[in-house]
This record gives sequence, structure tokens and C-alpha cells, in this order.
Amino acid sequence: MADLSIDFAGIRSPNPFWIASGPPSNTAYQAHRAFEAGWGGVVWKTIGEPIVNVSSRYSGIDIGGTRMAGFNNIELISDRSPQTNFREIAETKKLWPDRALIASLMVETREDWHDFIKRSEDAGADGIELNFGCPHGMCERGMGSAVGQNPGVIETIVGWVMEAARKPVIAKLTPNITDITTAARAAKRAGADAISLINTINSITQVNLDTWVPEPFVGGFSSHGGYCGPAVKPIALQMVQACADDPEIQLPISGIGGIASWRDAAEFIALGSTSLQVCTAVMHYGFRIVEDLIDGLGNYLDSKSICSVDSLRGRAVSRIKEWKYLDLNYKRIARINYDRCIGCNLCHIACEDGAHQAIRLIAPNGLGLGPGRVPGKPIPEIVEESCVGCNLCALVCPVQGCISMLSVETGRNTLSWDDYQEKSRGAS
Ligand SMILES: Cc1cc2nc3c(=O)[nH]c(=O)nc-3n(C[C@H](O)[C@H](O)[C@H](O)COP(=O)(O)O)c2cc1C
Ligand code: SF4
Ligand code: SF4
Repeated sequence: MADLSIDFAGIRSPNPFWIASGPPSNTAYQAHRAFEAGWGGVVWKTIGEPIVNVSSRYSGIDIGGTRMAGFNNIELISDRSPQTNFREIAETKKLWPDRALIASLMVETREDWHDFIKRSEDAGADGIELNFGCPHGMCERGMGSAVGQNPGVIETIVGWVMEAARKPVIAKLTPNITDITTAARAAKRAGADAISLINTINSITQVNLDTWVPEPFVGGFSSHGGYCGPAVKPIALQMVQACADDPEIQLPISGIGGIASWRDAAEFIALGSTSLQVCTAVMHYGFRIVEDLIDGLGNYLDSKSICSVDSLRGRAVSRIKEWKYLDLNYKRIARINYDRCIGCNLCHIACEDGAHQAIRLIAPNGLGLGPGRVPGKPIPEIVEESCVGCNLCALVCPVQGCISMLSVETGRNTLSWDDYQEKSRGAS
């Protein structure tokens, strides 16, 4: 099987799967259970001056039949004392020397950063993650996302940290910023060894329409919370790719945000991640999901004859270009496989009302043999000269593989937006 082990900025781990800082990494008991299940690393629940949490703390969004497709929390950092956390980190590291154990920290002053870094390293932590991301509570006190949203402050604090740190330092970034690369560049300038992203996204998930109090409910009120889980994966992937592609950053990336399956993991690696962190999926399904993550990623790499995580890393990064460099002369069109079509005509309605009126309804004439189709009912037909290849019909079609998108030869040369503008100027 392919080699799943990684070296993340000098932190070794038998596989790329780490528990993200959060409720599943709160205690030594949980870290033991995670390592027993097979996780390669644990990023401890953020340690700082102990806080007091509210009740309740979580809310979520269900999409279709999927519970917690989006998850929201207003929980703060660890509510246990730093002494307890550092003692438990030391106990855990002794028992699991081959796994990655990272201390996540969030404190205020330069002296506090120095003190907490020394205590983390004395406890045996393999690395330190700086929590610059928490979007609620801590930012009101000048920490968390209040730091992560200000590149100048990131640079100052990473600078303080690097004065004291001997172990690798990972700056964990907030997505609640216009351009995350400005934060990553600041961390790099100040000497961080790696970055991790994303932390949670500022959100309100739902309003109770009888009481008009949003969830999570705390004595008649709520607060902006941090959004995560499967719904945030596309946002996280975009930010990981942007950081991986930036020539000024070029730091190891720990990818976080909605990872729940080996496919998610492989996508994050292909877009530039070395390690992968998981929080919501573990809260939902437990530590045991790591078995499927390891098997699935290993089998996928084997099936592609890719020998290691390192060899997959970044393969998709350069496949994202600025829009202006895409080929305006490339063309795709939709094609219906009538053996699968059930005659629901959702594609027709979508294209008629929401796209380019390129699917007409025709008499079946012996076509449309898919299961459940009503005999004699009109069936869709693609009007190829009107189809702009937008993908909408393939996305709405309820039958997997029924509508495929085919590349067609246009006989025209590649044309970028810049070329197009130049041509237009020449013509006028
Ligand atoms: C309830 C909860 C508590 C969290 N606490 C922390 C924390 O203490 N420190 C931190 O850096 N991130 C914290 N996070 C953020 C996660 O580490 C992670 O960045 C985020 O949830 C996205 O990953 P996911 O989609 O796998 O959950 C927390 C997330 C949740 C859901
Ligand atoms: S949406 Fe799919 S299954 Fe339904 S009519 Fe169109 S092609 Fe057939
Ligand atoms: S790809 Fe777009 S334009 Fe073409 S048939 Fe489908 S919905 Fe219509």
C-alpha cells in the first residue's frame, strides 16, 4: 500500500489524519481513544487562560437527509486549567511517541506567549498551533480572529512566538477575511514554519420563527457563531489552493474544513495540504471514521499508482487559473443517455427557465427507455446549437450518469480574455 506517513514541517506522523483543535481533543482520555483508533495526530483543544462557556453552544443545518451538513458553535477555548492540559499532554506523548501531538495556544501578551510555548515544549508537544481564528468571544478580547484578520498583528505575534519556540510553529488562519493570503504571507514573514486553515466561518444558522431567537439559544439570546462541517469544504478548498499557489507563502499546509471522507482528504492534498484536520465529522460519527479515511486514501493512491501522500500533494494546484486565462473557445455540450432517463423532465424546466432554452420536449419515438418512465410522455432532447455547456441540466438530473457533458471540437484556436480584448481592439 502507498506510504501514508508525512513529515509536516519536521513533525512526523504515520498518516496525514489529525484531530483538529476542538471538543474531540479536549482531554488525554480522548487523545488516547483517537490514537487507539488510528489517528496520526491530535491538535489539543486551545489552551489559554481558562474561560467559562455558555449553555447551549451548538446549532446546525440539515440538508436533504444529511444531519449537520453545516455545524455552528459559540464555544470558546479550553475551560480547563493550563496545568491540567500540559500535564495531560505530557502523559499522552509518553504513551504515543510515534504520533503527532500539537499544542494549540491562544494568549494575549508577549510574556504569556513565551511562557505557554515553554510549557508546551516541556510537556513534549511536537509542535505549536497558534489559534488566530476563533470568531466569537475571544476576538472581543483582542484574540482569535481579531488577530487573524489583521496581518500586522499576525506578524507581531508570530514574531513573539518565534523568539521562544524551538518546535515547529503552525499559524491557524481565519477565513473571516477578504484575502487569506495576506494573513498567510504575514505569518511567513514573521517566520512561521507552517499554516493551517480554515478555522470556522462567522455565521447565524437558524432563527426560531415562534420566538424569533436564533440558535443556539442562551437565555433568550444567541450570538454569531463559527460555521464548519461539510458545508464549508468548498470555501476551505479555495483558501488552501490560494495559499498553496502563492509564491510568497510556500509553507506546509494543514487543510481543515468539512473533511469527512477519504475523497475530501484526497482533494485537500491535491490542492496543496500535507496534513488534514477533522473536527465536525468526529463529533458526528466518532474517532472510528479514521479507519475508512486511511483505507480509502491508501486504496485511491494505489489505484492511481501514486506511491505516497507527498506525490499526490499539489497535483491540482496549477489547474486553477485566473478566469482571464481560461480558453474562451473551449466548448462542451450536454448529452442524454436515454437508457437511464426516467423522463422526469427536470432538465427541461431548468434549462428553459434558468439557462438557455436548449432542451426541448419531443415525442418518445422509441427513445427514453429508462426505468419508471411513463410510456408516451414527452422526453427531453438537447438542442446542440443552443447549448452553452453550462452543466445545469447535469447537476439537476436525479439519475447518476444520465446527462454527461462532452467536449466538442470547435476548430478554433485557444483564446484568452486578454487575447479576445486585443482582437476586439484591433477590429475597432
Ligand atoms: C465546537 C467546536 C469547538 C472548536 N474549538 C476550537 C478551538 O478551541 N481551537 C481551534 O483552533 N479551533 C476550534 N474549532 C475549529 C476546528 O478546529 C476546525 O477549524 C473547524 O471546525 C473546521 O473543521 P471541521 O469542518 O472539520 O469541523 C472548534 C470547532 C468546533 C465545531
Ligand atoms: S433530468 Fe435526467 S432523468 Fe430527468 S428527464 Fe432530464 S435527462 Fe431524463
Ligand atoms: S448544459 Fe446548460 S445550456 Fe446546455 S442543455 Fe444543459 S442546461 Fe441547457
